[in-house]
Amino acid sequence: MTALGERLSRPGAVLAVIRVAALPVFLVAERLVEHPAARSAGFDFALPAAAIYAMATFLGELRERPLAPAPVLAAADLLLIAALVETSGGPFSQLRHAFFLVPLSAALLLRPALTAVISAIGVGLYTLIAVTYPDATAVRPDAVAFEFSQVLFLIWMGAASTLLSLVLTHRADEIAELATSRGRLVAQALDAEDQARRRLAEALHDEALQNLLAARQLLDAGDPDSAALAREGLDDGVTQIRQAVFDLHPYLLEQAGLRAALQAVAERAGRRAGFTVTVTVDPDVGGLRGQLLFSVARELLANAAKHSGAGAVNVAVRHSESGVELIVADDGRGIDRAAARAAQARGHIGLASCAERAEAVGGAFKVERGSEGGTVARMWVPLEDVQEDAA
Ligand SMILES: Nc1ncnc2c1ncn2[C@@H]1O[C@H](COP(=O)(O)OP(=O)(O)OP(=O)(O)O)[C@@H](O)[C@H]1O
Ligand SMILES: [Mg+2]
Repeated sequence: MTALGERLSRPGAVLAVIRVAALPVFLVAERLVEHPAARSAGFDFALPAAAIYAMATFLGELRERPLAPAPVLAAADLLLIAALVETSGGPFSQLRHAFFLVPLSAALLLRPALTAVISAIGVGLYTLIAVTYPDATAVRPDAVAFEFSQVLFLIWMGAASTLLSLVLTHRADEIAELATSRGRLVAQALDAEDQARRRLAEALHDEALQNLLAARQLLDAGDPDSAALAREGLDDGVTQIRQAVFDLHPYLLEQAGLRAALQAVAERAGRRAGFTVTVTVDPDVGGLRGQLLFSVARELLANAAKHSGAGAVNVAVRHSESGVELIVADDGRGIDRAAARAAQARGHIGLASCAERAEAVGGAFKVERGSEGGTVARMWVPLEDVQEDAA
């Protein structure tokens, strides 16, 4: 959209355009239709005043500097319409239709309360014009019924516009919320990418690189015993690099399935930290929420390896009627809440991001000390449906 197009698509600018467009319509309606002459002298002043006001608000919007706040402009609209109606046939004026526009305009501004107030003032102004019009029954014998039906229409239009405004405001809030959560998810995705890179760096640095460095030192020594040891170190390094690549490969889950992928990652964590692992996956879980379960389990296993000092870790995935549950329990030192909070404040967001990912799909995540010591992490997520593929 061009800069001008963008400026003119804001609600205030749209209203300014509608105001300007109304002027020729008002003029034609006043000239073409025969209407009673009572109190019409002021029309020739009211219309130019309305024209100046409409142009001024339009120019204000073009420069992105509105003439006045929206409620003031809405009140000015009403007063000018009342003046034009009053001077072009009073309650019978063709221009009375313009009263309908004001509640709709207020609705467009997404302000339900303003819409209700403006609608009520419009009804009041029209009633005032009707009541003070001299000898209305001489113009139309059914004047009272005519005016009454007009008032009913105005009330109906006001109520409808207020409801419309409520619906539009609700939608706008929902859209704003979606935009915020989208931003949060993008940030999480970036964090996750960062974490994956850090994990890869750690795996390569702590294991493979150390083995390779040791092998080089042994080779430098030049004797046959050292060469054999160096060969062992090189083999270990190759295995570790292979494992790191396997662990990080995005197709691990797809190719091996959830059970095998969890088993591979759990065994790797167990070997690194010296704990035994048991992995049980309910057979009917299939591929449900596979990616989410896998990545959260991987983080929990990494935590068990880094923080728990455990001798045994259990990983279980169960299928319940309404969802899937993941439990990772270790028999280590048990999570320290204060330490976990402090770690998060230092930018360690492993657990926080597990919780956010579970909540993003309507699930729940909890980590606590087990009843017999150690740490137990549980995640529950509802069954996947077609739209919910965010995890
Ligand atoms: N299984 C566990 N046993 C004991 N303490 C734990 C365990 N899991 C987590 N913690 C504690 O909770 C803290 C927060 O864990 P979290 O996964 O959020 O961050 P991290 O592992 O320190 O860093 P990151 O996951 O961002 O690499 C840890 O620093 C640790 O103190
Ligand atoms: Mg962690």
